[in-house]
Amino acid sequence: MNERKWWKEGCVYQIYPRSFADSNGDGIGDLKGITDHLEYVKKLGCDIIWLNPCYKSPNDDNGYDISSYTEIMDDFGTMEDFDALLSKAHSLGIKVIMDLVVNHTSDEHEWFITSSSSRDNDKADWYIWREKKNNWGACFGGSAWEWNEKRGEYYLHSFSRKQPDLNWENVDVRNAVYEMMRYWGDKGIDGFRMDVITMISKDQNFPDGVKTGEYGDSSPYTNNGPRIHEFLKEMNREVISRYDWLTVGEGAGARVEDTLLYTDPERKELNMIFSFEHMNYNKPSGENGWIEAPFSLPGYKKIYKKWQEGLSGRGWNTLYLENHDQTRSVSRYGDTSTPELWKKSAKALAVMYFLMEGTPYIYMGQELGVTNTDFQDITEFRDIAALNDWKELKKSGRSDEEALHLLRLVSRDNSRTPFPWNGGENGGFSTHSPWIRMNQDYGLINVEEEEKDPSSVLNFYRKLIALRKESDTLIYGDFTLLEEDDEDLFIYQRTMGDEKYRIIVNMSGKEREYQCKGKVVLSNYSDCLPYLRAWEAKVIKEE
Ligand code: GLC
Ligand code: CA
Repeated sequence: MNERKWWKEGCVYQIYPRSFADSNGDGIGDLKGITDHLEYVKKLGCDIIWLNPCYKSPNDDNGYDISSYTEIMDDFGTMEDFDALLSKAHSLGIKVIMDLVVNHTSDEHEWFITSSSSRDNDKADWYIWREKKNNWGACFGGSAWEWNEKRGEYYLHSFSRKQPDLNWENVDVRNAVYEMMRYWGDKGIDGFRMDVITMISKDQNFPDGVKTGEYGDSSPYTNNGPRIHEFLKEMNREVISRYDWLTVGEGAGARVEDTLLYTDPERKELNMIFSFEHMNYNKPSGENGWIEAPFSLPGYKKIYKKWQEGLSGRGWNTLYLENHDQTRSVSRYGDTSTPELWKKSAKALAVMYFLMEGTPYIYMGQELGVTNTDFQDITEFRDIAALNDWKELKKSGRSDEEALHLLRLVSRDNSRTPFPWNGGENGGFSTHSPWIRMNQDYGLINVEEEEKDPSSVLNFYRKLIALRKESDTLIYGDFTLLEEDDEDLFIYQRTMGDEKYRIIVNMSGKEREYQCKGKVVLSNYSDCLPYLRAWEAKVIKEE
């Protein structure tokens, strides 16, 4: 059996601070708003929260552009507010994971201000400066290089031009990052989610990338780069090993082979990686010409099988369907055409992903079955990525209607609408009109309504979380995918010793014959028939 760890047994609830709860009526969520609602997380059964960045930032990319790592963003409150949040969370038995964004800083960080002031200063080499640029494109559009007058050089920015990449080759940069991490560790946080951490080591030859349009693809030279494992081992030695932490790296481009290297405990790097293969499956994006690929369940299941079997006994998986960069899972994979199917499919998806081997993550609102938002025009979007995609789509000759349709399908703003606490004004999120519009369904899909309904998605998630917590087999047991080629059913087993669970999910609206023996321990239908109904999901303890 795998070694027992708290971060394997726990369940993470991800909070996007800007959109969770506004305590002072300015339309922006804040830390005090989170502190005031920690009981909600506790009652859900999650024992770890991951906070998206709440550090000082000019908000070019909603806090992923940090101008001071040891101060709190003005919109979100003060360091006292953070300390109060941490101490209340701990008193409730909830651990707190922060976001670590160290591939880049804001261009307003004092490190960059100094570095960009001349070619000759004590931070001259803290960022990636070149007299000549290569053809790399930035993730948020345009070239990845920006000209700087004072230095007469370009700097690299893998994301927006206000997010210059740090130069990890420089040991002073690494030490400054480690010192900052220890500052938070000494405050008592319980770990880090590491933003695009697999991108910190760049191929120092900076070769041109294969062109996918106007610009070249940098990913072969930036993802899982030459010194990445050396840097993470150093970080582990200097920081991580001193604490009892959860560490999870965002693994853009990490394959199973890479992830084994990142997460094998003997190698002393990270605990787990957010892989993207299941999220990217059939997803339209600029890189593939915005094609909406059809969804095929066997192909989708194959990805899970590969990751479950590939990491088994050595590394450890993350389990997630949503986060602040993704659309809402019930809209993407479920069926929102009627209220009944919406509810059944939201629960079915929960069962499908939650009971595999790995640490489950729930993105705020997912536990209510929040849907994608019916954005009416471009002025309703806030995300820098959406605004750039809009420009690209328009440039490629798409009509407003077509461009809007694609943005609704893919935009990260879908996950960033205010958390619906009730059906009242602004969903109980704020007394002020919020920084981004509410989801159109908040009158029905909100905490207050779902509290009242014993069969709500929320109450189902509570049961599911409790079920996993009680069973070593569901946490540590072996995973076996069954009926691999079935086009409608997602079925797998978890086994430990004599104990066996079978997780059965009908991922379609069709009726399907399926019989099995055993005790139903969780189901989204109130009775059990010898066949499966639309989006029926059940967990069976086999006898
Ligand atoms: C990660 C974050 C995303 C951010 C980007 C740049 O992918 O999850 O929200 O825009 O990194 O920091
Ligand atoms: Ca506020």
